[in-house]
Amino acid sequence: MRVPITIQASLFLVGTIAAQGGGALPPVPAPPQNPVTAEKAVLGKILFWDEQLSSDDTMACGTCHLPEANGADPRFGTHPGFDGLFGTIDDPLASPGIVHLDANRHYDPVAAFGLDVQVTGRTAPAAFTSQWSPEQFWDGRATSRFVEPEFGTLSIPNGGSLESQAVGPIMSTVEMGHDGRTWAEVAQKLAAARPLALATQLPADVQAALAQDPTYPALFLRAFGSALITAERIGFALATYERTLVADRTPWDRHHQGDPTAMTMSQRQGFQRFRQHQCDACHTPPLFTDHTYRVLGLRPWVEDPGRMAVTQNFADRGAFKVPSLRNTGLKPSYMHNGSMTNLVQVLDFYDHQIPSFPDNQDPLYAAMSIPAADKTLMLDFLQNALTDPRVAAGLPPFDRPRLRSEQQPNVVYGAGSAGSGSVTPLLMAHQPAVVGGVDFRIGVRDALGATTAVLAVSPLPASPTGLPLPIHVDLPASMLFTSTTAGVGPAAGYATFPLPIPNDTRLQGAVIYTQSFVLDPAAVGGWGIAASDAASIPVF
Ligand code: HEC
Ligand code: HEC
Repeated sequence: MRVPITIQASLFLVGTIAAQGGGALPPVPAPPQNPVTAEKAVLGKILFWDEQLSSDDTMACGTCHLPEANGADPRFGTHPGFDGLFGTIDDPLASPGIVHLDANRHYDPVAAFGLDVQVTGRTAPAAFTSQWSPEQFWDGRATSRFVEPEFGTLSIPNGGSLESQAVGPIMSTVEMGHDGRTWAEVAQKLAAARPLALATQLPADVQAALAQDPTYPALFLRAFGSALITAERIGFALATYERTLVADRTPWDRHHQGDPTAMTMSQRQGFQRFRQHQCDACHTPPLFTDHTYRVLGLRPWVEDPGRMAVTQNFADRGAFKVPSLRNTGLKPSYMHNGSMTNLVQVLDFYDHQIPSFPDNQDPLYAAMSIPAADKTLMLDFLQNALTDPRVAAGLPPFDRPRLRSEQQPNVVYGAGSAGSGSVTPLLMAHQPAVVGGVDFRIGVRDALGATTAVLAVSPLPASPTGLPLPIHVDLPASMLFTSTTAGVGPAAGYATFPLPIPNDTRLQGAVIYTQSFVLDPAAVGGWGIAASDAASIPVF
């Protein structure tokens, strides 16, 4: 039986104080095709935090959307930007994703990033007001009409932008998926996985759900009435979870509910200045956005056409969604390209202390000028009065598990030995190992191309006998895998060793030691072998 849960925001509809410029948050809209239920919400929470949703077990939705950063991403990676070159002025600071994987799920270098982790072209936006957005993303390309991507049928004609968005990253070859990933593959993987096997410190509601239903098929059965795992249901569950993340206890909200102590004098004055300078024309309370797309001119529009790419309308060049300012003080960076890292810079930008590009610029922005005293007051208001303490502290419903990527990573050790071009092959051992993990793989790179690479996997650590090998290659206890390196020439070769981990819980707690050896006539030492560094990888 599915129990509808009431979203708290609707309780505060009564008592709206419009005269003070806003009032309470409107109720969270949910499309009739996907009503909010507690069972779907908790399934969505589990999916959102499960790194196994990605093709290499390194990325959950939550990796890039941390509550304590207002749903944005405190990890910074550099995207080369429009010119494709690193270190130039157009480089956005955005979210690191995965190393590119081809259709065989092998590591595969791509332009700009090679075999390094790819980075998104825009920053992860604040996520806790997207429940009210008619469209998602900085350019609004995830629309209200949700066509489920597995069979192409119209699932939600209206009000389904969160569902439209949620199915995107799982297939994105930058964020979570390999080339040509299918929904059948995703479903098969989830059906066999232990939910949140890589996470620790699970929130109470997640623990309770998993105690009752320890597998994904059981969780889907409870949420949807059958155990079938489909793209539509994944989208429904993720969107439902997001709809329950209502950050409505900011000092500003409490002030508007009649608590005279909620906001300090300086914050109240800051809010006045915010309105006086017409910030609220775009950042309109109570959501602090009006859901329009506007041009501030942070960079020339050719670098990122923004909304124009969606509407094909030249008038939309360089326009981006007005972001909500709720919890904005928690954000690690600001603007679609992450070009600002604190609110002082943002206010200086509105005061034209930081240069901007006038083409197509919004006249409201162009006309702004803000005295220093007003900036101080507005800074206090923005930094403090719009923050829900539950978001900042990660309290329910904003609580979350600890991700594998936040715990101790696999340990890489040993020096290896140089091959052709005096370059030492490097092990790619960043993926976590999990019992039953179908996607576990190790790679080697910076090796000679078109030669043989051997991967040794051993249950034993470094040999104490002073052998030059960091791992104990002890036949027959060690396993050897061979592969031909792709790539041409010295240091350009790479290989992938898929090592699915058997579904045997006795392996939990074991440690895998591994190192790669590349056949290379020019290797130092005259052995004809260049060795990579080694890694020790705990099995979860
Ligand atoms: C590698 C980092 C990364 C991962 C993983 C990721 N996202 Fe995002 N997310 C982003 C970036 C970057 C954007 C903005 C992209 C744009 O606007 O072009 C975004 C945008 C969004 C938005 C739009 C918010 C708004 O106000 O427009 C939502 C909602 C969202 N992501 C949810 C999810 C969900 C659900 C998942 C998992 C299925 C997920 N994200 C996985 C980086 C990530
Ligand atoms: C003409 C509409 C408009 C007005 C007026 C406006 N903004 Fe903005 N604001 C935007 C848009 C659009 C963005 C995102 C721009 C981008 O990334 O290209 C933005 C971004 C921001 C951000 C960054 C938020 C984030 O999550 O990255 C802050 C903070 C902000 N504005 C504060 C203010 C303040 C303070 C004022 C008044 C001084 C103001 N804005 C006036 C449209 C406006």
